[in-house]
Amino acid sequence: MNKLALGVLASGRGTNLQAIIDACGEGQLPAEVKVVVSDVEDSFALERARSAGIPAVFLAPGKYKTKLEPEREMEYVECLRRHGVRLVLLAGFMRVLHSDFLAAFQGRLMNIHPSLLPSFPGLKAQKQALERGVRYAGCTVHFVDESVDGGPIILQAVVPVEHDDSVDSLSDRILKEEHRIYCEAIRLFAEGRLQIEGRRVRILGRGEKA
Ligand code: GRF
Repeated sequence: MNKLALGVLASGRGTNLQAIIDACGEGQLPAEVKVVVSDVEDSFALERARSAGIPAVFLAPGKYKTKLEPEREMEYVECLRRHGVRLVLLAGFMRVLHSDFLAAFQGRLMNIHPSLLPSFPGLKAQKQALERGVRYAGCTVHFVDESVDGGPIILQAVVPVEHDDSVDSLSDRILKEEHRIYCEAIRLFAEGRLQIEGRRVRILGRGEKA
């Protein structure tokens, strides 16, 4: 089977990126990371890419704090296309993407979020969960659409919240699950087993045709 070409967008430390690189390298995923792009020049994610021999590209985001300038956004699209990317993964990418980007990668753009969506979208999801007093927290892999953290849900994982949890201890517990389900979602995509039906994602059985 041809390997699925991945492009990863990351702004920070890149542990999800690392989990994906490792899973590809160990042959657990029929996929290959072709390029890592960041809006933060000194992000550790870019360092991880370089260490793995993967093209690591910094693309300046422009003047806004939470989104890319439209011309900059097209540079991201062009970079991903140039590297032959089929599936784009947001892995701690801290900017909202807009319609031109979404149109370029419609149905081929995923995000990981550290909560059981639709609870606690946006920033500091683990802190939101702790403060709300939920008994269970978790993470969600979803396709990206125009909404913030609102696209069709692919996979979720649940972890318990302990009484003495700090934001850090809860985040660590969730992160382990993030690494696992992000790789699992990529594998399902690579195997052609994800079918978007409105707000829902159907997971097809092995060999089942869409
Ligand atoms: C993760 O918690 C992810 O769910 C969120 O940003 C964080 C990125 O962590 N979107 P890392 O850079 O992959 O370590």
